Formats: sequence, C-alpha cells, structure tokens
Amino acid sequence: MGMENQTRVTEFILMGFPGHPLTRVLLFLLFLVFYILTLTGNFIITAVILCDRHLHKPMYVFIGNFSFVEIWYTTTTVPKLLSGFLIERDTISFAGCFLQLYFFFSLGATECLILTTMGYDRYLAICNPLRYSTIMNSKVYTNLALSCWITGFMIYVIPIVLIANLPFCGPNEINHFFCDASPLLELSCSQSHTIEIICYTYTSILIFSIFFLIMVSYMNILLAILRIPSTTGRQKAFSTCASHLIVVLIFFASIIFMYVRPTAKYPFDLDKVIGVFYAILVPLINPVIYSLRNKEVIRALKKTMWSRIGFPKMSH
Ligand SMILES: *[C@@H]1O[C@H](CO)[C@@H](O)[C@H](O)[C@H]1NC(C)=O
Repeated sequence: MGMENQTRVTEFILMGFPGHPLTRVLLFLLFLVFYILTLTGNFIITAVILCDRHLHKPMYVFIGNFSFVEIWYTTTTVPKLLSGFLIERDTISFAGCFLQLYFFFSLGATECLILTTMGYDRYLAICNPLRYSTIMNSKVYTNLALSCWITGFMIYVIPIVLIANLPFCGPNEINHFFCDASPLLELSCSQSHTIEIICYTYTSILIFSIFFLIMVSYMNILLAILRIPSTTGRQKAFSTCASHLIVVLIFFASIIFMYVRPTAKYPFDLDKVIGVFYAILVPLINPVIYSLRNKEVIRALKKTMWSRIGFPKMSH
C-alpha cells in the first residue's frame, strides 16, 4: 500500500511453491513428469490427426487444434514454474510477466472457443444428421477453427494493456507460480479499482456466455440422444458427448472459481492449487479424455505407430 514510493517496478518475483529444498526438488520432478506427459500426449494427437487422412473431418480437426493449443497453453507457465523450483529467487521482467499473462489468457480463450465450436459441431451432427455434411463443409470448419484462433488472440488485448498501464510501485512479489491477473491486480498501487472491476466483469461475462453456449449445445444433444430408439445408438452417441462434457465441466469449474468473483480473495495458497488444476492438470488429462477414448483416434494411432516401426499390418 501507500503511494510514497513512486519508483516503478521493473521486474516481479514469482514466489511459486516455497518450501524445504527437498520438497521443491520432488515437486520439480512431479511437474516435469506432468509436463513431459502433456507435451507427448498432445503432440501425438496433433501429429496423428494431421497425418491420417481419415481423420480430416471437422470433429478431429477441432480436437487436433485443441491439442495444439494445449501444448502452448502449458508451455506459457510450466517451464518457468520448473526453473523456479531450482533457483532461489525466481524473477520475471515486467514485459515478460505481461507477455505471459497475454499468452496464457489468449490461449485459454482460444481453448474455450474451440470447446464451444466442438459442442456446436456435435450438436449439428447429432441433432441435424441429414444436413450435417452440407452445413459443416471443409470451408466452414476451416473458417471456424481460424476464427477461434483470431478471436482468442484479440479478446484480451485491451484488458491486458489496461492492467499493464496500472501503476506498480512495489512490493513486486507475486504469490503465485505465474503472472496471473488477480495477483497482479493485487500488487498495483492504484487507488481506484475501476480497471479491476472492468476486467472482472468482462471476464465473467465472457466465461458465462461461452459456458452458456456450450451448455445449450449439450442440452440439445442430450434431448436428441434420449429420443434415439436403439440402445446401442444411444450409448454410442452418449459416450462421445460424455467425454467432451467432462472436459468442459472440469475446465469451466476451475476458471469460474478462479476468475468469476469480486475482489474478495481466497487464501492465496488455494489459488495456487486451483491454478495447478487449470494450467497443468486439465491439459494433461485432455488428450486422454478426448482422444484415447475415441476408437477412430486409437485405430489411427496404432496404424501410424506400426507403419513407422515397420510392421506391415496391425490386426485391430
Ligand atoms: C487446425 O485447423 C486448421 C483449420 O481448419 C486445419 O487446417 C489444421 O489442420 C488443424 N490443425 C490440426 C492439428 O488439426
């Protein structure tokens, strides 16, 4: 607090997870394993979907893009977190901090938009099967995927420029493992809370509208599934959508908990734990939920792997 110290902060210190050196090394190893698994899983899925021509269909193109976003989404936070475990004083420059914030939020927004598109795509496929292939032709799904990226990278430009222009006069210790919006807003020495309120309102409206759109798609899907007469048809449709819905619910539960709230604060260590959920764990389990439960992806995966290793054919 206090405006007496008017020097501008030039770097921030990320507190991360302080603790005994041994605990930190163990956490380093744990998160390193998570990170390697996340990269491997998402990279394999992206590559398989790009390489297998049978998977050049809207649903897989979206899943491929989703996995590709996940690779970059975790990469904005985890490498810095990992290096922080090994050094005493983990600093990040002012510009670096806001770049991290920008990419984290933009990639997160892109991810939400792709999830929305996937919901809409499944809605069309299940509720409008006869017209599906004409509506969702290759031009349409390419444009949809592109617009998720473009919109995702534009949505947060203004809020982040606003936050970066707030006065930061110290202290400069961020009690979090990356430059997230709420600990940064907390550090600003601005007397007015206008920007803070604008940013929370903006994010809340955005998150709730996207969540609402996704839920409308899945509600319609659910109603359509209940009307399918055959049990096997019902089960098949249900199992794809259930896995999509699980990812959506975990992701939105954590970001709603984190970002849709007034200035009332949770204890910061709880923030860090939730941060681990949406920044690290969701990208880790996504490939499993989205793809490995999907027979076509598994089939393509086996085919690609066996043909690379040199076996001529793989019986199922
Ligand atoms: C992402 O979407 C674009 C546009 O539809 C597509 O060309 C590209 O292959 C997709 N990427 C992946 C990894 O599926």
